Amino acid sequence: MRVAVTGGCGFIGSAVVRHLMQRTSHQVLNIDCMTYAASEESLAAVSSDPRYRHAPISINDRPALEKVLAEFQPDAIMHLAAESHVDRSIDGPDVFIQTNIVGTYCLLDVAHRYWLKLEAEKKTGFRFLHISTDEVFGHLAPEDPPFTEDTAYDPRSPYSASKAASDHLVRAWYHTYGFPAFVTNTTNNYGPWHFPEKLIPLMIINALEGRPLPVYGRGENLRDWLFVEDHAAALVRAVECGKPGETYAIGARQPRSNLDVVRRICALVDELEPDPAGPRERLISFVSDRPGHDFRYEIDPGHAERCLDWKAEHDFETGLRRTVQWYVDNRSWWQTLRKQRYDGRRLGVEK
Ligand code: DAU
Repeated sequence: MRVAVTGGCGFIGSAVVRHLMQRTSHQVLNIDCMTYAASEESLAAVSSDPRYRHAPISINDRPALEKVLAEFQPDAIMHLAAESHVDRSIDGPDVFIQTNIVGTYCLLDVAHRYWLKLEAEKKTGFRFLHISTDEVFGHLAPEDPPFTEDTAYDPRSPYSASKAASDHLVRAWYHTYGFPAFVTNTTNNYGPWHFPEKLIPLMIINALEGRPLPVYGRGENLRDWLFVEDHAAALVRAVECGKPGETYAIGARQPRSNLDVVRRICALVDELEPDPAGPRERLISFVSDRPGHDFRYEIDPGHAERCLDWKAEHDFETGLRRTVQWYVDNRSWWQTLRKQRYDGRRLGVEK
């Protein structure tokens, strides 16, 4: 297959590109305009392969998109380019509307027009996979069953509202134009190359540097954790054998409270890099809660597991150990980011 991936230098996108390059023989076009969270280094292991090509263009740049799709002639598009950090969406929603809604519309429209011109066989096999989040379903109370593909939409942050809008656009293109698109909704990911503004990488690097570990509220909120390489494997299965019009809810059945996650990180960092000053749990600091903080996300991945013949390989403890070890071994990556590109505010770093 010839697979175009948007956002292929992002956290999940780069795991997808590495999976495509290292475990399949597909050709890859990575469409990524390199916003703050993109990392070329995350693809260093595969980027010199002649099967890989990077187009540094925005999904809002219609003429450039038309040109690269016409040249590359993809059999499938995997759409991962998105603004994804909830706290940033609260502070500045504009870019979330521009990228996640308007950008998805632009990409869909260009992809649809490209698809209309394909010859019959290629047209029948073409797939557009839109990668989305479980946050579109709102949040769960402790006694609620996990989200499934049938859960009604109820987004509650500017980020999740923008992703919900993009999901609706993708499904509208399927129903209205017969465009062979489908959607995946996934739980919280973690793993190597995660930009250090999200909970897990932030806590790992702050613990390594002896800085405060800022837990929102009382740390009781629950998230369902999926190792990013397991997610990438599911997405590649989906693009290879998923059905147009379908939805696949992807997760690993690994719910944990934020406080449990942070305590586990402290224990692993203590084990790998003992601190003479004492256990890292002393650094946990309860700070003001996120506005509108969703209490709990959890996915029942049964449908995706059956239809895609896929199952997450990592439980949370195995995946977290690999992740902490990766951050210990790759200090120069995150130290450079912290110095050069990060404003420091949410890292708990003094300004
Ligand atoms: O559910 C999938 C979603 O998971 C994705 O769609 C989002 O792109 C991704 O960012 C993630 O959203 P969350 O808001 O759950 O992730 P985040 O890492 O920002 O926060 C995880 C939990 O940890 C959440 O309850 C807020 C809390 N938190 C986060 C940070 C950054 C803290 O307590 N302290 C922190 O400093």
